[in-house]
Amino acid sequence: MSIFRKKSIEDLLKNAGSGGKGLKRELGAWDLTMLGIGAIIGTGIFVLTGTGAVNAGPALSLSFVIAGLACLFAALSYAEFAASVPVSGSTYTYAYATLGEFAAWIIGWDLILEYLLAVSAVSAGWSGYFQSFLSGFGINFPEKLTAAPGSVEGVTTYMNLPAFLIVMAITFLISIGTKQTTRINNIMVVIKVLVVLLFIVSSIYYVKPENWQPFMPFGIDGVFSTAALMFFAFIGFDAVASAAEETRNPGKNLPRGILGSLVICVVLYMIVSLIMTGVVPYAQFSKALDHPISLVLQSAGQNWVAGIIDLGAFLGMTTVILVMLYGQTRIMFAMSRDGLMPKSLSKLHKNIKHLMRLHGYLV
Ligand code: ALA
Repeated sequence: MSIFRKKSIEDLLKNAGSGGKGLKRELGAWDLTMLGIGAIIGTGIFVLTGTGAVNAGPALSLSFVIAGLACLFAALSYAEFAASVPVSGSTYTYAYATLGEFAAWIIGWDLILEYLLAVSAVSAGWSGYFQSFLSGFGINFPEKLTAAPGSVEGVTTYMNLPAFLIVMAITFLISIGTKQTTRINNIMVVIKVLVVLLFIVSSIYYVKPENWQPFMPFGIDGVFSTAALMFFAFIGFDAVASAAEETRNPGKNLPRGILGSLVICVVLYMIVSLIMTGVVPYAQFSKALDHPISLVLQSAGQNWVAGIIDLGAFLGMTTVILVMLYGQTRIMFAMSRDGLMPKSLSKLHKNIKHLMRLHGYLV
């Protein structure tokens, strides 16, 4: 058996249990767009924008456009593939169909590592917000349990316990399976988008156009290097492709979902970064790298919004972790089903079977 053997699209469809034999294709463009926004908006906008502003100045909005454009080209390829091979497994499956098993194995692991990196980083951001929320009630985690070993200079830290606990809690939620999971995701996504809109509406009047001068304090180099950093804010747009198997009319709805969520996020990111650097001179963000949005609200005298924004950030990061962990389990399941990972990873207990059915793995 060659490691370069490929799977035909017919085989992939048969293996996935589709081919018109009762697979429920329930998701439309709206659900897919929600899934995409669920995976995209998180730490990138609520935490990383501080670093971005310090490195690119007001031109951070341009960095977002450049990073978004790079994603757009990738998203167009995803949309094309997802529409012509509407099977779960995302790029792992596309690589299997086009390049063969070895390439698929590498791509599968790339995806697993991508989600691992994103979930680790986002759960660390989540932990920061959770700790500041608890400290409002006078509860403080022991410092040794708030960061990964060696990540805080001069402090001995063992682990980031809140980050560990949220990953465990969501993994548990995914593994027991709940019919409501996708609905809960949609509700959280609507709240986080409303929170971003609230930020825009409450701060836009406090923009001082003179803060946008100079627009590019670090030149085009600063804009491009920051674009590379802000690419993180778009990671997750590809998660939409993993819903291919349960999408109605995938040829139309997948491209709409993938491109729709990406375009909405680019526009929101641009507006938010313009407002941030318009309200607060960009150099001041160095003092508030972890909570850039709070700094903007303080400067705008809109402290009442801060608590709501924290809630949005909190929910936003939770949906990112949720959708990415889903994606990761799907890739592992697909690889295990193909024999590229231990078979035990595609063994399902009763409730997981229900969950997999819900997401189009099983008929
Ligand atoms: N795009 C995701 C975020 O910004 C990873 O949190």
